[in-house]
Amino acid sequence: MAGGIVIAPSILSSDFSRLGEEIAAVDRAGADWIHLDVMDGHFVPNITFGPPVVAAVRGASAKFFDAHLMIEPADPYLEAFAKAGCDGITVHAEACTHLDRTLQAIRALGAKPGVAINPATPETAIEYVLDRVDLVLVMTVNPGFGGQSFIPATLEKIRRLRAMIGDRPIRLQVDGGVAPDTIGAIAEAGADTFVAGSAIYRGGTEASYRGNIEALRTHARVKKA
Ligand code: DX5
Ligand code: ZN
Repeated sequence: MAGGIVIAPSILSSDFSRLGEEIAAVDRAGADWIHLDVMDGHFVPNITFGPPVVAAVRGASAKFFDAHLMIEPADPYLEAFAKAGCDGITVHAEACTHLDRTLQAIRALGAKPGVAINPATPETAIEYVLDRVDLVLVMTVNPGFGGQSFIPATLEKIRRLRAMIGDRPIRLQVDGGVAPDTIGAIAEAGADTFVAGSAIYRGGTEASYRGNIEALRTHARVKKA
């Protein structure tokens, strides 16, 4: 999964009454991946959707379906998310007692394993599973809601993780408060994969989504150069 910058709109900020159309719209507007925020009302204080909804919208885009599971436990649901069409499945280190086993299970299901850490979790929590993952997700807000402010202390963690990852083919993803005014510093710290909900879905039209995605890409590139 290595390569250039990836922009992944989070459908959490879309109009859920038109979910399929909203996914197709960001696809046409230049999204690289589609980010799916799954919340259980237990690990995080909000509830979103599960495998049947993912399966229902799978046909709306051929792009990489990037599932971010904010659920505890995760193991009983991995197969259902893989079968629903998730290409990547990311679990939280804080939600998985046997994280190494869970990541192996995701790969065995044919999906790309990812591991996420909350703002208060140190990068060392995932040091010994780096060889099991294709993606590391640094939460840059406390998970549960869209539209929160970026937490600046996470920049140092991104920098450290970039060094820890070294030359492994692992994407370094950030999620939360990513916007044109924050993405430059985040890219400079070493992230290459950017989730954005409110910064992309604001405006409510395909034309605004295109402009919003382009603005993120431009600001991510400027600081990297
Ligand atoms: C937060 C979710 C994010 C969220 C980001 O728990 O994991 O994906 O949708 O929303 P913004 O980009 O609005 O901060
Ligand atoms: Zn997310």
